[in-house]
Amino acid sequence: MKMLPRLDGKTVLILGGLGFIGTALAHRSIALGATTIVVDNLLQDHGGNPYHFEQLKNQAEIYIKDIQSSDVLASLISKADFIFDLAAQTGHLRSMQNPCLDCDINVVAKLKILELCRQLNPSVKIIFTSTRQVYGKPQRLPVDETHPVHPVDFNGIHKLTAEWHLQMYHQIYGIPSVILRLTNIYGRGMRIKDTTQNFIGFWIRQILEEKPIPIYGDGKQIRDPLHVDDLVQALLLAALSKHSTGQIFNLSGSEPVTLDTLAQKMIQAYGSGSCQYIDFPEGKKSIDIGSYFGDSQKIKINLRWEPLVSLEDGLRDTLEYYQKHQSFYL
Ligand SMILES: NC(=O)c1ccc[n+]([C@@H]2O[C@H](COP(=O)([O-])OP(=O)(O)OC[C@H]3O[C@@H](n4cnc5c(N)ncnc54)[C@H](O)[C@@H]3O)[C@@H](O)[C@H]2O)c1
Repeated sequence: MKMLPRLDGKTVLILGGLGFIGTALAHRSIALGATTIVVDNLLQDHGGNPYHFEQLKNQAEIYIKDIQSSDVLASLISKADFIFDLAAQTGHLRSMQNPCLDCDINVVAKLKILELCRQLNPSVKIIFTSTRQVYGKPQRLPVDETHPVHPVDFNGIHKLTAEWHLQMYHQIYGIPSVILRLTNIYGRGMRIKDTTQNFIGFWIRQILEEKPIPIYGDGKQIRDPLHVDDLVQALLLAALSKHSTGQIFNLSGSEPVTLDTLAQKMIQAYGSGSCQYIDFPEGKKSIDIGSYFGDSQKIKINLRWEPLVSLEDGLRDTLEYYQKHQSFYL
């Protein structure tokens, strides 16, 4: 793994920092010596977790606040060197059920943050976690950054809109930003309660409760899960590299796998388990993108990033974590 420089003297603001990815990033930012500030409103049915608050509370400044209306945001933005913008409505189906809420958080709140940056701190660098969902149903595999964008749900449309806003503020006002389009992320701290946010977390819960893993469809769909530690490394490299500014990078996992294979690898990592094939639930089929795996050559070449956690090791590590800490996530 490429060594990261120390961040002593730097101020890192993590929006959505009590969620799955935000907490992992906060731990790393603290370890690198940055003054780490977290804003999160523990939005219902998301990955924000009071247990993460307990883990971080003595090492980070934490504000339980909504980014849509926070009175403290202006002063926090003013002193930040980096803003990691991870706060989001993340559910694809939920974005179809409540598109306005998705738009309020994923578009309007972000635009207000950009305006605050423009007025108060135009040199702050914004690192934005977008999604592979902006591509919609892949026309070819693997999907690189030149693939056409054609989102199939409101969440994808709103993430794409936020990307365009970031690019405009970079081009017109010079506010540095970088966009990372994430594939499925998994690892310690992810939400495992149900399938509203992601399927891998729910599979973990099912395995630990000795229930069959539910696979939608025939199990031949392809995904490329990426471990959260590899993602955190990419987020920090993107923040620290001058070459990343103004860029869009795909972040994909180390290997494409069918859902069948992923389930089998999970069962192997745990030592037991079974699968059950079921029909796509109502609503999910119409926004499903089919098979996906991303091409991450661009970030590999430009930022010398590489996913280092194998699927086997990552799944084992994740399952071990939840064997010990499951109760905090149910
Ligand atoms: N996990 C993945 O597989 C994945 C894939 C693609 C993109 N992403 C993106 O990465 C980011 C982080 O995702 P995650 O998996 O950690 O999700 P998460 O739900 O664990 O974290 C998001 C956090 O944002 C907080 N939040 C939401 N709305 C907020 C608001 N209005 N004010 C303050 N806080 C708010 C939530 O409480 C939560 O803690 C999101 O932007 C998501 O869209 C994640």
